[in-house]
Amino acid sequence: MRVGMLTGGGDCPGLNAVIRGAVRKGVSTYGHEFVGFRDGWRGPLDNDTITLDINAVRGILPRGGTILGSSRTNPFAIENGVERIKDNLAANGCDALIAIGGEDTLGVATKLADLGVNVVGVPKTIDNDLSGTDFTFGFDTAVNIAMEAIDRLHTTAESHHRVLVVEVMGRHAGWIALHAGLAGGANIILIPERPFDIDKVCAQVESRFATHYSPIIVVSEGAVPADGGSMSLVSGQKDAFGHVRLGGIGDRLASEIEQRTGQEARAVVLGHIQRGGTPTAFDRWLATRFGLHAIQAVHEGDFGKMVALRGTDIERVPLSEGTKELKVVRPELYEEAEVLFG
Ligand code: F6P
Repeated sequence: MRVGMLTGGGDCPGLNAVIRGAVRKGVSTYGHEFVGFRDGWRGPLDNDTITLDINAVRGILPRGGTILGSSRTNPFAIENGVERIKDNLAANGCDALIAIGGEDTLGVATKLADLGVNVVGVPKTIDNDLSGTDFTFGFDTAVNIAMEAIDRLHTTAESHHRVLVVEVMGRHAGWIALHAGLAGGANIILIPERPFDIDKVCAQVESRFATHYSPIIVVSEGAVPADGGSMSLVSGQKDAFGHVRLGGIGDRLASEIEQRTGQEARAVVLGHIQRGGTPTAFDRWLATRFGLHAIQAVHEGDFGKMVALRGTDIERVPLSEGTKELKVVRPELYEEAEVLFG
């Protein structure tokens, strides 16, 4: 069999581990060959390929990013996009395709599977917001990076008696903020699922200073104030899947807190630092297993499926299940953390 492989959407630590796992098992156990498509769906659209053999995957396990490159290309927004993909898969002799990506990439994979393309999906996103799987790889690395930043910010905030606001990624789901905030001992965590009350935030800031500590606030980029969104910022730019570019809530929040409480407040935006560099052990473990199971699904001809973590087992679920809804933070999980605020 010849198997195509691509990585789409925002990159995340662990993508190379998936590629390596699939190629190593595919070649050594099943005798399959691979074709790497560059930059997500752009690769099969433009027939842009790279060699993907055992040599190509040597030494990539600890490397962040993706050796295949990535993009947010949407073939359904391009004229004859689907036909071009089908033609180029055929031209490369591909019997199947492994698509590694988040809601957008897997959304495209789901539609292609319905149109008869032999595709198996692997879920990835640092946001951890895909349904159908308990965790996505990349999330644990992002949380650890954010936690380390919070640890460092505690000591400098204390020295200067300042509020420090840490903006983390998370457009619609606050998983990174919640997990990193809990692990780093943040005093307030603000997430998109729970519009925040600025008066309450300021009261918590003041109560923190009253006990001679400096507050650390972790805020998801997609968090919004309860009173109508005057503090949220979007750049107006949209990607091929229609997502607006977020950013700026940390700064807006810091200046609002400073104005209202008189306490000096600064913001730190972690941005793409959360997506870069080497994956944690957990992410390498999960991504490698996803790769091994994805090629097994391909070998068995079990197409239209996505590999998923359920407990400690890797299972296969219909591709549509991974993208049918966003997995957001449940109210009881947020309330559990709220006990520690202020
Ligand atoms: O989807 C993953 C993610 O990192 C989001 O948390 C973030 O909003 C978005 O990607 C940023 O996208 P880009 O790297 O294209 O700016």
